[in-house]
Amino acid sequence: MNTIIETLQQLVGNPHVLTEDLDHYVTDWRKRAKGKALCVVRPGTTAEVAAVVRACGAAGVSIVPQGGNTGLVVGSIPDDSGTQVLLSLQRMNAVRAIDGQNLTITVEAGCVLQNLQTAAEEAGFLFPLSLGSEGSCTIGGNLSTNAGGTQVVRYGNTRELCLGLEVVTAEGDILNGLVGLRKDNTGYDLRDVFIGAEGTLGIITAATMKLYPMPAATLTAWAAVPGMTEAVAFLGLAHRYLGAGLTGFEVMNQFSLSLVDKHYPQLRVPLWKETPWCVLLENADSESEQHARERFEALLEAAMEAGCVTDAVVAGSMAQARNLWHIRESITLAQAEEGLNIKHDISIPISSIPEFVQVTDAELAANIPGARFVDFGHLGDGNLHYNVQAPEGEDFKAFQNQYEDRINDIVYQSVQRYGGSISAEHGVGELKVDRLPEHKDPVALDLMRRMKRAFDPRNTLNPGRVIRA
Ligand code: FAD
Ligand code: MLT
Ligand code: ZN
Repeated sequence: MNTIIETLQQLVGNPHVLTEDLDHYVTDWRKRAKGKALCVVRPGTTAEVAAVVRACGAAGVSIVPQGGNTGLVVGSIPDDSGTQVLLSLQRMNAVRAIDGQNLTITVEAGCVLQNLQTAAEEAGFLFPLSLGSEGSCTIGGNLSTNAGGTQVVRYGNTRELCLGLEVVTAEGDILNGLVGLRKDNTGYDLRDVFIGAEGTLGIITAATMKLYPMPAATLTAWAAVPGMTEAVAFLGLAHRYLGAGLTGFEVMNQFSLSLVDKHYPQLRVPLWKETPWCVLLENADSESEQHARERFEALLEAAMEAGCVTDAVVAGSMAQARNLWHIRESITLAQAEEGLNIKHDISIPISSIPEFVQVTDAELAANIPGARFVDFGHLGDGNLHYNVQAPEGEDFKAFQNQYEDRINDIVYQSVQRYGGSISAEHGVGELKVDRLPEHKDPVALDLMRRMKRAFDPRNTLNPGRVIRA
């Protein structure tokens, strides 16, 4: 009888079943965790994905789907049993169709986000999803994590950008839901069930996504703000002055920018030395550059008058704007250069963020001597990356062993008190699966568990992630 590896070789071809040199597939992006795969299978078509799922199901072998492996919650690598098949979607990367009048693009799941953006741009449209990992993450991964990124304040999360999905179910059937409809009330929304499911309910093989017209002009500014209260007030003014033109509103604390300055001095971070917080904001205008500039200047003037902003620079060219965004996107990398850290991807109602930060900072400082706070994130969405770095010079592993649980308790209990979420945009994965029951409504958890059992009765797909079956 064939082993499962031989069966998979017959289904997708020998070169696409890998059993050696798998480090890159089985190690998570942060190098926090490393698993072991029975093999990596790289199907090239939806029919092959379906055949692989059927074969694994019949053999009682579980599957971990993987796109770009940039996830931050340990969801895209196998466990350490050596019994799981890692199914990489990377060969399925084609742009299948663009419909300019319907403003849609249909792509395969393994299409790298940056390639999707470029395909849209070459056709004269904007695909607005934008993340620091866009050079490697895939649209299938973005959908499966319901990724957020830096344009959510205007365009929403990946979920809001998706109209239709093609999915291979846990039974190996192909669900053809690749519709380009903005309205379709024909029963339960199965598309939304698979989005954000982190590969636990089905394998996304293709998607129809929304396109937008290119803005006439996009301006970027960098502002020094004296505190989080002022940053939130500034956000309110930005909504008022820019309306739908406000496409990004990011906040960064001084320590996070000091790490960028330390590890990437060539980026020349502006204003950070003189202020506890900086804001990066973007205005995309459908009229003209002049109109965009006038609105931006009026906003900054009002913000300075109100004391929300103490200093600001508006990028004078696309290159300058790109550099400002590059600084913001480099915080994650600079943080990693500094050493492993304890990440929290949280959301809080925007009105409560200043108090949350003040209270939680104080509680952490009192309990975790010398801890350094790398706080930044998508303030426009109420989403902070509220991360804790070991004291300077201290061994991370020792720090993690001693303090990680305590730090997570402090942060997550505070998040709960302020009505927030312990995962705003990165997902649950393995990292937060055992924290979820403390923070999720028990009825919601029960329904989730029942959904998992209904969609994946044999627990084939990414077991142990999101919810324990
Ligand atoms: P993977 O990491 O491969 O997988 C993620 C999860 O989705 C896993 O559970 C996996 O099993 C599942 N999965 C992958 N593909 C499929 C599929 N086709 N079908 C079913 N399940 C699948 N995230 C944000 O939300 N906002 C950010 O701003 C952001 N910035 C980042 C910056 C950096 C530098 C890095 C390293 C990460 C960042 N992330 C961010 C996290 C990460 O990039 C996103 O979660 C991204 O959506 C993951 O895509 P991926 O293709 O790498 O998925
Ligand atoms: C970001 O906003 O840069 C990402 O979500 C990555 C991170 O949290 O480090
Ligand atoms: Zn983020």
